[in-house]
Amino acid sequence: MAGVSLTNISKAYGDVTVIDGLDLSIEDKEFVVLVGPSGCGKTTTLRMIGGLEVVTGGTVMIGDRDVTTLRPGLRNCSMVFQNYALYPHMSVRDNITYGMKVRGVDRAEMDRHVADAARILGLEPYLDRRPKHLSGGQRQRVAIGRAIVRNPDVFLFDEPLSNLDAKLRIEMRTEIKNLHRRLEATMVYVTHDQVEAMTMADRVVVMNQGVIEQAAEPITLYETPANMFVAAFIGAPSMNFLKATVAGGEGGLAVVLSDGTRLPIPAGRHARFGKLDGRPVVFGIRPEHMADGAQGPAVMQAMPTAIEPLGPHTLVVGHASSGEPLTAQVDAHTAAAPDRAMPITCMMEKMHLFDPDTGQAH
Ligand SMILES: Nc1ncnc2c1ncn2[C@@H]1O[C@H](COP(=O)(O)OP(=O)(O)OP(=O)(O)O)[C@@H](O)[C@H]1O
Ligand SMILES: [Mg+2]
Repeated sequence: MAGVSLTNISKAYGDVTVIDGLDLSIEDKEFVVLVGPSGCGKTTTLRMIGGLEVVTGGTVMIGDRDVTTLRPGLRNCSMVFQNYALYPHMSVRDNITYGMKVRGVDRAEMDRHVADAARILGLEPYLDRRPKHLSGGQRQRVAIGRAIVRNPDVFLFDEPLSNLDAKLRIEMRTEIKNLHRRLEATMVYVTHDQVEAMTMADRVVVMNQGVIEQAAEPITLYETPANMFVAAFIGAPSMNFLKATVAGGEGGLAVVLSDGTRLPIPAGRHARFGKLDGRPVVFGIRPEHMADGAQGPAVMQAMPTAIEPLGPHTLVVGHASSGEPLTAQVDAHTAAAPDRAMPITCMMEKMHLFDPDTGQAH
């Protein structure tokens, strides 16, 4: 096994730069997830690690080998694609063993590897079937099986679960996580699904338009997003953003919303935010850090347009009195109703403040 290190990587197609000076160091045995909106350059980055895409500039290292110009077959990476890329005319068993056959691995060892992979992935009943007689989820397992038996230095996954139904996705998520633990392998995994990223990764790399916005452990991204992009991307429903000003004065330091509502900042956070006194900010608060009704000093008015019961809790979707959109997660037995103004309490020890010009977190 080996780590991966990308230094000042860029990629251009003609005049269009799609990856711009990207630096990323992935530890040996680390599970790193690249996440970001469609077109941000996740697949391109993965393919540059695997050698399926030539870098325009920069260096790719796998372990202590400079593989920047090495062809894919010599990098010892196994890639699992979204579209499976199975051989349609071969059985599941032959799809899994194809690479080993080519390398001249002996029969007994091949059988052992196939048996292991089939057991891990629940493919035992399907080994003699052709891919077209399998469901999407089963095909994806075959593709993963094929990657496992190659015993690569680095596994590269490109949205391997995106064609699966919700239940199977969650199961496979756990399977791949377990696989990572069992194989003690370096894995780089691409998804546009932030829940998948958060639940699977040791470290999540949030990408946007060819650059890294933030790379950190899931909990760090959630609790201390570096900027509004990460704050909005991580967490569902998304963080609320409201235009505001920080003001000191009689009632102590507070976030003042554009309708004049004062939301006092807890004393424990004055040292951090005191310097913003008088400055415009974007006030960020997650729906789960709000509560139904007036339950403390930081209360704002909301106008719900929809009430969405989810079982364990209910979402109040609507807007603040400023007209800015607002979603709050409240108790399942809320009395909230559409078109009936209601107070919402903000847990100010959890709120975030951002620079309105740069989007950077304060
Ligand atoms: N062969 C190519 N020629 C020209 N542009 C390309 C090529 N491949 C990718 N791009 C562009 O590069 C950018 C990044 O693409 P990439 O496939 O890496 O995005 P992604 O983050 O994987 O998106 P998705 O979530 O939709 O898979 C996109 O704007 C895409 O249009
Ligand atoms: Mg992609």
